[in-house]
Amino acid sequence: MFEPRSLHLWLEPLGLDHDDLLARACADADFARTFFGAPRPGPADVRRALASIEAERRAGLGYADAVFVERCGLVGICRLDRDAANPRLGELGYGIARPFRRRGYAARAGSLAVDRAFAERGIDVLVARSEATNGASRRVLEKLGFERYDEEPGSPLGTTPRNNVMRLVRGRPRGAALSGAAASGSTDR
Ligand SMILES: CC(C)(COP(=O)(O)OP(=O)(O)OC[C@H]1O[C@@H](n2cnc3c(N)ncnc32)[C@H](O)[C@@H]1OP(=O)(O)O)[C@@H](O)C(=O)NCCC(=O)NCCS
Repeated sequence: MFEPRSLHLWLEPLGLDHDDLLARACADADFARTFFGAPRPGPADVRRALASIEAERRAGLGYADAVFVERCGLVGICRLDRDAANPRLGELGYGIARPFRRRGYAARAGSLAVDRAFAERGIDVLVARSEATNGASRRVLEKLGFERYDEEPGSPLGTTPRNNVMRLVRGRPRGAALSGAAASGSTDR
């Protein structure tokens, strides 16, 4: 029987060669809004965004990985933005295109993105913003081991309302079911 949760999932650094796949995923306006802040990016918008992602990656300022699932193709994106004032602090973001939601892909991809941030990208503390109304995102973050915390005044993260920020610290215990390679058989390429 077809079981989407058992399909192989991996991350690939998002680059210009993903333009067609990304444009197709952006047929989902909700997904497009997460990534572009606009519901209907055209091909030129997609290419411009990908060029800027490549430039940010080269400069070590930010990273975006495409989430691939076997038989499905590009199903989403994970982002990591490094804080300009504190390079060991990063902000995680993610989106899964609507047709592929509720299959565990955000949690699996997020786990790989967290591993990569801590192991390869020199991040010690990850934060993520989670609107109180976004139950799905909050649940994903909880599964990854993120916890709510009170943002200190004067934090470089700026004006985010305090209860919307969650944090994960490198080396602290994470959700047992999702830490490391235990992300349901996921491997990173
Ligand atoms: C948030 C989002 C990434 C979740 O993606 P997903 O692949 O559907 O999430 P998963 O299938 O991995 O689900 C992880 C957990 O969240 C729960 N969940 C998923 N969607 C949910 C929903 N709409 N309401 C409540 N819980 C939800 C799942 O049940 C699962 O928890 P469980 O294992 O305890 O059952 C997706 O809804 C999305 O792209 N939303 C728009 C972008 C966004 O909000 N990004 C986050 C802010 S940067």
